[in-house]
Amino acid sequence: MGQIVYYSSTSENTHRFVAKLGLASVRLPVDAGSEPPQVDEPYVLVVPTYGGANGKGTVPKPVIHFLNNPANRSLIRGVIAAGNTNFGAAYGEAGKIVSQKCAVPLLYRFELLGTEEDVENVKQGLERFWTRSH
Ligand SMILES: Cc1cc2nc3c(=O)[nH]c(=O)nc-3n(C[C@H](O)[C@H](O)[C@H](O)COP(=O)(O)O)c2cc1C
Repeated sequence: MGQIVYYSSTSENTHRFVAKLGLASVRLPVDAGSEPPQVDEPYVLVVPTYGGANGKGTVPKPVIHFLNNPANRSLIRGVIAAGNTNFGAAYGEAGKIVSQKCAVPLLYRFELLGTEEDVENVKQGLERFWTRSH
């Protein structure tokens, strides 16, 4: 069974969502200047979107720093995007970008801290995903 790696800013929506999954997880540092951790097990990345209207900085910097490490990049198996549908076409855009750049599936999208249904969907989905031995 793999783990979750996630970023969450000080508003901590993503943090609250991940906590409800009850799975092993690693939180990336909020401060872009901090050294990112190095992982040694396959993981699914949960990433909130921060592009806004102009699309700059869509993938949070600590996530980019983490993925710049080839060892970390080699262990990503999928991505889950967080966002807000108020952003229209840019909803969950960070997940699409990471999915394309790392050639892994975008497994799910949810808004803000997610609903109970999102939590259940992701719990069950990940269980199936890891049993298919990714
Ligand atoms: C400045 C800013 C820009 C954002 N841009 C987007 C966006 O382009 N697309 C999107 O889906 N959500 C966007 N969001 C919504 C966040 O992804 C959402 O609030 C998320 O839950 C934040 O997670 P966090 O609290 O764990 O950092 C934006 C939020 C902020 C504050």
